[in-house]
Amino acid sequence: MDAVLLLLRWAHILGAVLTVGGLFFARFAFLPAVAETDEATREKLHEAVRRRWLPWVIGGITLLLVSGLTNFLLFNNTVKSQGWADGQWMRQTSYHAIFGVKFLLALGVFYLASGLVGRGSGTAWIRRDRARWLSVTLGLAVAVVMISGWMRNLHTGPNLETGATGVQLDAPAAAPPAAADRYENSAAGSAFREQGDAAPAEPAAAE
Ligand code: HEM
Repeated sequence: MDAVLLLLRWAHILGAVLTVGGLFFARFAFLPAVAETDEATREKLHEAVRRRWLPWVIGGITLLLVSGLTNFLLFNNTVKSQGWADGQWMRQTSYHAIFGVKFLLALGVFYLASGLVGRGSGTAWIRRDRARWLSVTLGLAVAVVMISGWMRNLHTGPNLETGATGVQLDAPAAAPPAAADRYENSAAGSAFREQGDAAPAEPAAAE
């Protein structure tokens, strides 16, 4: 199962890099560059890029949807079967609500990103004002990445020296709960997620 999870993670991260990277390049490099050419050249360049970029957009969206949905279902299954936080983990962290917001924003990104490289008359309004809709798509995509990091942080915790093993490198005065205990009950889960806020103790000064 570990190998499947790793493959899903690679697929999801590659899909995100491809989609978001392409949006940044298009908005801040390609669009300003073609704006310096005459109308006929501009249209020719847009069409040439559109044809070549379309399969990559479809590939990126497919990777994100397939890996994201599978990962979501597997994660739900783990949380349920292991009874995290006495079965209250999802409610306690609002994970499903946060996922719902992310999913809706991601659908917005997919629609606009496809419209930008599409040819249909229904999405022509997106291509009529490329600069504006590329900026909107990018903003939504950045929000999706931020929400994703938040979701991940809910179960991996803050990046502390304790790491996933719960081993303290510089033991603070009041030791935070071991990472291994974080799924036991609500209190241990909350304390684990909040430990990044607690100021670590100063290391003893050398005499
Ligand atoms: C614009 C589209 C999307 C972007 C840029 C994006 C980006 C990301 C990133 C950067 C992560 C963190 C990866 C990691 O640390 O391993 C992530 C995690 C995740 N994504 Fe997406 N994603 C997108 C769409 C989707 C969609 C459509 C779904 C589901 C249908 C989805 C479901 C998930 C799930 C379940 C996680 C794991 C969160 C966790 O660790 O609890 N994502 N995503």
